[in-house]
Amino acid sequence: MIEIVPVTGKAPKTGLHIGLCHEDAAQTKMALGDEVLAAAAKADGFKGQKDASFYMPAPRRLLIGLGKTKDGSLESFRRAGQAAARRARDLKVEEAVVSLPEGADKDQAAALAEGAWLGLYKYTEGKGKPDKKDGKKEDKKDETEFKRMAIQCDAKGLKELLSEKRLVCEAVCLVRDLVNRAPGEKYPAKYARDVQALAKGVPGLSLKVLDKKAIEAWPMAGLTAINQGSVNPPVFLHLHYKPAGKARKSVALVGKGVTFDSGGLSLKPAGSMLDMKCDMAGSATVLALAILAAKLKLPVEIHACAPVTENLPGADAIKIGDIIRYKNGRTAEMLNTDAEGRVILADGLLFAESLKPDVILDFATLTGAAIVALGMNISAVLGDDGLCSRFKALGERSGEAFWQLPMPEAYRSHIESKVADIKNVGNSGEAGTMAGAFYLKEFVTTKAWVHFDIAGPAFLKSEDGVNPAGGTGIPVRTVWEYLKSL
Ligand code: BES
Ligand code: MN
Ligand code: ZN
Repeated sequence: MIEIVPVTGKAPKTGLHIGLCHEDAAQTKMALGDEVLAAAAKADGFKGQKDASFYMPAPRRLLIGLGKTKDGSLESFRRAGQAAARRARDLKVEEAVVSLPEGADKDQAAALAEGAWLGLYKYTEGKGKPDKKDGKKEDKKDETEFKRMAIQCDAKGLKELLSEKRLVCEAVCLVRDLVNRAPGEKYPAKYARDVQALAKGVPGLSLKVLDKKAIEAWPMAGLTAINQGSVNPPVFLHLHYKPAGKARKSVALVGKGVTFDSGGLSLKPAGSMLDMKCDMAGSATVLALAILAAKLKLPVEIHACAPVTENLPGADAIKIGDIIRYKNGRTAEMLNTDAEGRVILADGLLFAESLKPDVILDFATLTGAAIVALGMNISAVLGDDGLCSRFKALGERSGEAFWQLPMPEAYRSHIESKVADIKNVGNSGEAGTMAGAFYLKEFVTTKAWVHFDIAGPAFLKSEDGVNPAGGTGIPVRTVWEYLKSL
């Protein structure tokens, strides 16, 4: 990630100088105090409109519009940061200096940086090496690379805020990388090794990996059942962050870790399987958050818990009609092996309950129905009403959207089974996201519980603002703000 630092004092006269401008008249004198630039921008129709920009090559000046002051949300600064950083990258300048509109505060300056970091993300793990035969491609030394952005701002505490935001953005990009990674590169044992490497040496952080034997011994009936169709054994990851001093609260974060979801015997059609490497996004979210909490020495204890398996239709796969018995005595009838997320998350929730945390949050790309209800840009939250509202409000600030779906008691009947306590599907075509949440609820007694169904926003078909196509890292930023507020 590029370096982003605050600078105070006058703008430099050379290099790429970027000015952010609001649309309102008073702000349009913007032009970095330069009348020639102001006139040229005006002639070009640039007035500081949202997402508009004006570039002048000599001397290098770039103006980016923020839209009207009244919709001066943090998101407009993120978008501007993304536009600024991408332009600087494409122009191959090594450094750019950004001037903020008059009166901009430190949160707006930090949002700009956030937009730059998140907007420059690119997934590269899957790409081959450049052609060796072509010496020029190998020797890239003459090509300048964009390395540094300086933000002109003298707001107190910006430097500290930027170092926190940088780590938050790193956590987001870690989730993106893990989600974008090919399924063959993140089967459970490999995923566990990679998390071990990430957690290594971070003070306060310890990783426990339950292997297949320990999973069966616990017993984690759901994880065992779903794993049966795969030749790769499951793991259960427990990444624990214990703060050095007294913890203000203890939070368990549970994440769905299906490293590839074929649907199992209830096999998905080919088209629906295309993006199913993304089905471990929930687990990546909780693991990244625990690492982030440790790096930033958050005074809150975090238990990141992740059941990890592939969902495949191998010869020993769990069959339709099979009944499994969980550690808490509940039995569940498997009527669709493609509703595997809830089946393994139940074990994760029971594990989390055994740690007696104050709060339990679970994250899963659980239902296509969440996409039908809320589309690709809004995550569903279900569970405790007060907490759900809190996440909705925090999301408005962080630029990640949440909407609560209800859990009317009458809908509990959707998961009633004739032969077991519950079944793993609801009524076909009816409130599928709620049915999933009701299944999970059977395994939670903690009142402060929220279930996040991130099936849409965790993995996008096309770029949306600072969220790229593919893994997005949603909802890391919002949950981080929540954890900080405890
Ligand atoms: N992993 C999928 C949900 C999903 C769909 C995530 C699209 C991301 C994008 C989940 O395991 C699943 O297959 N759910 C089923 C549940 C149904 C069988 C009750 C679904 O949504 O169709
Ligand atoms: Mn599935
Ligand atoms: Zn799934």
